[in-house]
Amino acid sequence: MADLEQALAEVAAEMAVSEDRGEVATYIPQLGRVDAKKFGIAVATNDGRVLTAGDADEPFSIQSISKVFTLTLALGEKGDALWKRVGREPSGNPFNSIVQLEHESGIPRNPFINAGAIVVSDILLAGHQPRETIGEIVHFLRFLANDEAIVVDREVAASEQATGYRNFALANYMRSFGNLTHAPELALGVYFHHCAIAMSCRQLALAGRFLANGGRNPDTGHSVVSPERARRINALMLTCGHYDGSGDFAFRVGIPGKSGVGGGILASVPGVASLAVWSPGLNANGNSKLGSLALEKLARMMNWSVFAPRG
Ligand code: DON
Repeated sequence: MADLEQALAEVAAEMAVSEDRGEVATYIPQLGRVDAKKFGIAVATNDGRVLTAGDADEPFSIQSISKVFTLTLALGEKGDALWKRVGREPSGNPFNSIVQLEHESGIPRNPFINAGAIVVSDILLAGHQPRETIGEIVHFLRFLANDEAIVVDREVAASEQATGYRNFALANYMRSFGNLTHAPELALGVYFHHCAIAMSCRQLALAGRFLANGGRNPDTGHSVVSPERARRINALMLTCGHYDGSGDFAFRVGIPGKSGVGGGILASVPGVASLAVWSPGLNANGNSKLGSLALEKLARMMNWSVFAPRG
């Protein structure tokens, strides 16, 4: 097996010179301004090391990666009752698709497609003002990453709010089935702001450590979720974390991962490490093109896979 530090440097060097970087998302205008040449990667190992390469300390819009953390919080509040309102099957459809909602009575396929994450935002909103719920989510990420510098990028949130017609459609449609308990604009206020949280690869890898370590922060030993819940969140990331590209990601990379249209991917190697990668150019499924490729190469070099024998 390769040395991790050397493997990271090798992968980052290769990605830095790649010509074929995919397309930066422009449907949220503020995201379209990001430099497609950026590339960062960070690994936080269960034995306490943090290794980085490239632009690993530059904050970017975490977008749908935030859905892992809102799901974690909502499961903490609702437990398994959450699954009455959101499914846990891959959708096989784009992240912002509306088509299944009609056939499936307003119950989104899983918590990582936009419709599912909007329901999760609605659950987190119960008994709160949107700004309190947004504050709770940011606070949770700061706690997990042990970094008070994590904030919402207000310009990205405003940009998404101004152009989020599809998300308004999804929320209104689900409300018509009774699967949204608050006014759509309130649930969406939470949703747009958590998608607009900015974090670096280092911060994200640190925040994801509980997923790779049986629900506990390996530094402090604090339990974030039960081991069983960590396993289940990892299972959802593997099966649903890359939308209609989830099968391909599992095939190529073989570890749980969650992408965002900002070009980030959070991944975990259970028992070994949490990692985050960022390259803003996307593939046709809206997942980071070089981010997926970098994870594929690194996983192969390190023999990381949930499908491979241990040791
Ligand atoms: O709702 C949206 O369209 C974005 N806030 C999040 C989408 C996203 O990150 C999909 N990921 N690949």
